[in-house]
Amino acid sequence: MAVLRFPAEDNRRIDGEAEIRAELGAMGIDYERWSLDRVPQDCSADEVLAAYAVEIDDMKQRGGYVTADVIDVNASTPNLDAMLARFDKEHTHDEDEVRFILAGRGIFFLNIGGRVASVEVDPGDMLRVPRGTTHWFTLCEDRRIRAIRWFQDTAGWTPHYTGSGLDKGYQPLCFGPQYLGPRVTTSIGV
Ligand SMILES: [Fe+2]
Repeated sequence: MAVLRFPAEDNRRIDGEAEIRAELGAMGIDYERWSLDRVPQDCSADEVLAAYAVEIDDMKQRGGYVTADVIDVNASTPNLDAMLARFDKEHTHDEDEVRFILAGRGIFFLNIGGRVASVEVDPGDMLRVPRGTTHWFTLCEDRRIRAIRWFQDTAGWTPHYTGSGLDKGYQPLCFGPQYLGPRVTTSIGV
């Protein structure tokens, strides 16, 4: 289950599927919980795409997406830092960012009209961030995420950096409540 926080509002925390859906929905962000029991954790990407074919096609209809794939990275993925550090700075995309989390965890920071929210996602969470939304993303301490992604046009999957530097002021909270150290240079995003 995701955790939604508003760091500038005394780190106001929102838990619960309905509460998070309502709060994010008011911000134009779709949040849903989907079943994870369709496939075993160690199944292949093709098995995931086959098992979730109905949901994948439904989402394509909802957002005009034309393709879907499975992103799967972990701490041993070659060039992980270089590959994923592209996304831990505030940016936008020309298409929606749609993720259904199958394994691992991460944290999306959303800057909507100057109000920053963080959404820590874990398996079973579906998040749809509309194109043009300023955001950034990092992984949690286990540096693992596996997710289904949808694309309207794979050519659109390019970050446009805002250069605001806003991302530097926020610590990933998914290191856990005892975490007090500095943001690591390997903070990463997908
Ligand atoms: Fe992004």
